[in-house]
Amino acid sequence: MIDLDLNRVAAPFQWPEIFGRSAPVDVEIGSGKGRFILELAAANPERDFLAVERAGKYHRLCCDRAARRGIANVRLLRTTAEDLLFRLLNEASVENLYVLFPDPWPKKRHHKRRLIKADVVAAMNQALVPGGRLLVKTDHEDYAVVIAEVLRRAGNFETLDPEDAFAGLPETGFERKYHDQGRPIHPFALEKIRAVVS
Ligand SMILES: C[S@@+](CC[C@H](N)C(=O)[O-])C[C@H]1O[C@@H](n2cnc3c(N)ncnc32)[C@H](O)[C@@H]1O
Repeated sequence: MIDLDLNRVAAPFQWPEIFGRSAPVDVEIGSGKGRFILELAAANPERDFLAVERAGKYHRLCCDRAARRGIANVRLLRTTAEDLLFRLLNEASVENLYVLFPDPWPKKRHHKRRLIKADVVAAMNQALVPGGRLLVKTDHEDYAVVIAEVLRRAGNFETLDPEDAFAGLPETGFERKYHDQGRPIHPFALEKIRAVVS
């Protein structure tokens, strides 16, 4: 089933139970209408992809699109990023984690709703395999400053050149719109520290 039913899979996730095989898994948080993850999954049939989206309307749209295109290596889950990161994902199980154009919550009283904060980034680090990547993009100037600071302080990561890290990846729906509007986009890329070999 493309539409992952939390009543039918055990937590924390074991990928073979979900995908029916053992392959590297990438995860997108807040996938919207799914433009990015579906294109990436279609182009990489040897890998598996999980996309999490809170909004039922977008989740259903993405499920319909995946089914129509016959994309077999993607699973779509309607839940929150927090549920995914603090309950569902196994440690060291994700190769690449994408957070693309997270809601900026521009009003000051809503800043606490922003996704990129220290405890969430620490949970992302836990979910990544050693050498796994966290890739983030935003168009929002203020949020970009906050994201840069949270990521700078995050432990157990190395910074990568974002241009290299994003090279060859598809555009998201929001990115395409912002691109057409000529709006600046701020990319961030981190790699989880690999185990030290003694
Ligand atoms: C600004 S949109 C970007 C969508 C897509 N990534 C893109 O770039 O086109 C942010 C998306 O994240 C989803 N979202 C916001 N907070 C979330 C959360 N805590 N957990 C899961 N999804 C969330 C929203 O419903 C929305 O679809």
